[in-house]
Amino acid sequence: MMLYFITGNVNKFKEIVGVFREEGVKLQVKRLTVNKIEIQSKDISSIAKYAAIDLSKKINKPFFVEDAGLFIEQLKGFPGPYSHYVYDTIGVQGILKLLENVENRKAIFVSAIALVVCDEIYMFEGKTKGSISDKPRGSKGFGFDPIFIPKGSERTFAEMDLKEKNKFSHRAKAARKMIKFILKHI
Ligand code: IMP
Repeated sequence: MMLYFITGNVNKFKEIVGVFREEGVKLQVKRLTVNKIEIQSKDISSIAKYAAIDLSKKINKPFFVEDAGLFIEQLKGFPGPYSHYVYDTIGVQGILKLLENVENRKAIFVSAIALVVCDEIYMFEGKTKGSISDKPRGSKGFGFDPIFIPKGSERTFAEMDLKEKNKFSHRAKAARKMIKFILKHI
């Protein structure tokens, strides 16, 4: 079986392929870039699910999509589902500015994967608690990686190589749940 990951984000693809490798799964994962519909919702899973439902009308092979967001406690969950737009507009520096002199720097990264096999949709979610650093650190990864420190580490995601990020990351957690499901049921 060949499984397609529909994403324009090469970093996400590398992370998830890394998880498949770490778990010793032989299944081949290929990246496919197809425009996704993104609905507005507070819920990351609903966004991924809707994109998968829409894509399932056009794609006739097993595939999955993933959506993620960074929820910052002091900002009442912002940017959450708007993370992509916020990253493209105010970016990492804008988030740091919003948190200037703010003591509560707690944040959660959420990842939702929607897997489509034989017209059925299966959802998997991963969450990683952590905090927002005072300044950007590290040059690896993408997006908000330079300012997110997962609980249990002192390094930001951007200071970690892919294998270390996968030990902590929201995406790796969701991917592991999907792999477990695939191995058991498909
Ligand atoms: P997307 O809509 O799933 O592409 O993700 C929304 C935005 O959240 C992305 O553009 C990134 O800026 C950010 N993001 C999602 N996952 C991660 C991650 O693992 N590290 C850093 N930023 C991320």
